Amino acid sequence: DTVLQATQEALHRHAGQKGNLLPILHDVQHTLGHIPESAVPVIAQALQLSRAEVHGVISFYPHFRQTPAADVVLEVCRAESCQAMGGEQLAAHAQQKLGCGFHATSADGKVTLEPVYCLGLCAQSPAVMINGRPHARVTPAKLDQLLGTGA
Ligand code: FES
Repeated sequence: DTVLQATQEALHRHAGQKGNLLPILHDVQHTLGHIPESAVPVIAQALQLSRAEVHGVISFYPHFRQTPAADVVLEVCRAESCQAMGGEQLAAHAQQKLGCGFHATSADGKVTLEPVYCLGLCAQSPAVMINGRPHARVTPAKLDQLLGTGA
């Protein structure tokens, strides 16, 4: 069971540390791409917390994913420089096009939309990242092209 294994490894790595719930959750998500439901009772038991407490922390931080991301992860920069250069419109366009908000997956299940806060491309705002690859000076039309959803 890969979930159990990844969870136990994460627990082991942070055993005995104070405030180790967050690093454990980060590790699990890093290994598995999300935090599966079945990891929750294992973590809760090891840390002597209730399942509700672990769930509470997972749902408090938008960074944590409870379901796997789509094959395409689109991160739109929401930091200041990009906002000032059309990032706001670009974000609105992405949400409209995909039919979902941030921290969510498009209606067709193909694209997961996430915010990101500065990609170091401020001089070429607005910027996005698609599956880890940065793109600068992105207009709504260019975004459609990059995602292959334009027409
Ligand atoms: Fe968007 Fe820096 S603010 S890349």
